[in-house]
Amino acid sequence: MSAIPEHHVVGRRTPRVDGEDKLTGRADYTVDHRLEGMLYGYPVPASIAHGTLEALELDAARAMPGVVDILHHGHFPDLHRSPNSMRQGNAVSEVRLPFEDDRIHYHGQYIALVVAETLAQARAAAFRVEARYHRNAGAMTGLAASDDEGEEVGQYTRGEPELAFGIAPVILDATYTMAAESHLQLEPHATLAEWREADQRLIVHESTQGVFYQRNALAHIFDLPPEQVEVISHYIGSGFGNKLFMWPHAVATAAAARLLGRPVKTVLPRQQDMMTTGHRPASRQRIRLGAELDGSLASIQHDSLTETSTIDRYVDACGGATPVAYACDSVATHQRILPVHHGSPCPMRAPGEASGLFALESAIDELAVALDMDPLALRLKNYAHQDPQRGLPWSSKHLDRCLESTAERFGWASRDPGIGNMRDGDEIIGQGMAAATWFAGRQPCAARVTLRADGVFVACGTQDIGTGTYTIVAQTVAELTGVPVARVEVRLGETGLPAGPLSGGSMTTASTLPAVAAAVRDALAALKEVATGPGGSFEGLDPAALDVAAGTLQGDSRQAGFAEILARHRLSDVTGEGSAAPADERQEYSFRSFGAHFVEVRWDPGISRLRVARVVSSIDVGRAINPVAARNQVEGAIVMGIGMALLEGLDYDPRDARLINANVSDYRIPVHADMPEIDVELLDYPDYRFNEFGARGIGEIGLTGIAAAISNAVYHATGKRLRDLPISVEKLMDRT
Ligand code: MOS
Repeated sequence: MSAIPEHHVVGRRTPRVDGEDKLTGRADYTVDHRLEGMLYGYPVPASIAHGTLEALELDAARAMPGVVDILHHGHFPDLHRSPNSMRQGNAVSEVRLPFEDDRIHYHGQYIALVVAETLAQARAAAFRVEARYHRNAGAMTGLAASDDEGEEVGQYTRGEPELAFGIAPVILDATYTMAAESHLQLEPHATLAEWREADQRLIVHESTQGVFYQRNALAHIFDLPPEQVEVISHYIGSGFGNKLFMWPHAVATAAAARLLGRPVKTVLPRQQDMMTTGHRPASRQRIRLGAELDGSLASIQHDSLTETSTIDRYVDACGGATPVAYACDSVATHQRILPVHHGSPCPMRAPGEASGLFALESAIDELAVALDMDPLALRLKNYAHQDPQRGLPWSSKHLDRCLESTAERFGWASRDPGIGNMRDGDEIIGQGMAAATWFAGRQPCAARVTLRADGVFVACGTQDIGTGTYTIVAQTVAELTGVPVARVEVRLGETGLPAGPLSGGSMTTASTLPAVAAAVRDALAALKEVATGPGGSFEGLDPAALDVAAGTLQGDSRQAGFAEILARHRLSDVTGEGSAAPADERQEYSFRSFGAHFVEVRWDPGISRLRVARVVSSIDVGRAINPVAARNQVEGAIVMGIGMALLEGLDYDPRDARLINANVSDYRIPVHADMPEIDVELLDYPDYRFNEFGARGIGEIGLTGIAAAISNAVYHATGKRLRDLPISVEKLMDRT
């Protein structure tokens, strides 16, 4: 690990540059944005999950004060579907257009959009819309209620996993299930759409993780050239994958704005947000492990079944990390999907692998028990020193250091492995651990940098979804120009800016910063040209001989500030452009991030109280550009992991697939009172094979492995191996 030298900005703890705007309410989140003459949309959700809409009774709603229009199947413009292509950058969450036909595919599907002068009027009228349905029998209520094995959509095999399992002296065969989870991001989904008739432009403010994807999709849907569609997302009250791709409320709202000639804003009420805009799908995973007596893994088989909706084919790839997690010659994964009558699921923070590592890292713990071996020792025994799937070296892997460091800080050496042996008063202490991993990826990105007398302006079309992108972009510019962070102005989240990637897959940092750096260098080169040209401060010098420091150019034992150089040439600014994309580094190395979580739970059997008392984590993501924001990501992921392990689950009625707990009182999440002591260490091994900043991205890895570590600790305390998340107190109390 290397210390960050004093004069560096990248890698140093840096307060968020947008912190004050957020605290004072100046940050313009879509839900807060207002336009002159704006109307409000309020969707009407279907109250059945599977059937046909036979009739809508709208007269009472239309007669309500302030109602301007009601859009529905019989009154909606003829639009086109988006091609829904990742490659073309127009993927959407639900391909079906709103009100496309009279069929109902899930509870909450929009059957109408009421548009009124105020939010209160729109809402009141929406509740007056009456619908008559034909309800179909046989709604698919979820995989828990079905023994349907679904459709295979992916598989991987190396070696002879069946054979090796058959002859292994120690085997484990266990099935793990998980309830669907809601993202429950703080800012609900929201669209503010404006149609400018004069120049045929559609301008959309959206709380989205991908302005360009939404722009491209809307262009197809409304049959407009992409240049005539603008999508803006300056601030997003989190997304967690929920806001990667457009949902139908945005289409309905944009259609209303065009039809009515006035801006329309739709903010989804929390219940509809939970019903209609995706979730982590429920999963059922069977893990089979075979091991030698010394703990060497001989076989790993991971069969996953995840739910999708009846109108899409979302695949939550649970087995993604399984082929690379351990050194093992014989590995197979199978992925299946099962359509059910729920709204479409979508990626949710560490999609697939957060679920997958719950199963795999629980199974490894169970195998350790079967082998009478320490689970930490079992993981080190099967350490993958190179990528066992591709046979390539890791660019930078320090999982061993993560495991050792967490074990030491946690005090693992003094753990008594016996079940329920560790006590503190009325509480039984359980201690468990698990490994974490998430892939490291990059996307193409472009940026523009303008050097001005008063500072630097930098523009990129990627988004800050609350993770701190504004700040790390400012740090990057400050690092390379020596201009203080406070004098760097960052503009993000507009399709009018140079194209930036989706804020997803923990790829934003590694994708964006190299593009920003390229743009800074381009701008500095332009400034050097000016300064060494006729009449310049460094006239006649070779531009390459000039250094940049503290917002000045230096050379030939002279220096001149950027402002001075611009003034001398009567220039307001100098602009540079840059872009960056992954090259062929992936041919030589495998890129992944790693981590370890050690957890202590406390179980008080007298009052049936289970709590997570302590989490100790080490995360190896290369260089953390801003350790304040990076640690914040891991802490947040740990909190989500507590929810996944102990509390969260969307409940669908087993009779008719209706969502029962689409509200934040019945859908339980961790609150402040549930918070454990959290000790996060960020290892600092910059991964320069990945990019010049050595950063791999940190949004998702913290959520991988944490649910298993908690479940393993619960087993250590109680002797109960609960393979069905969430591990509710009711399940722990169940003595049958
Ligand atoms: Mo993340 S689930 O790619 O926003």
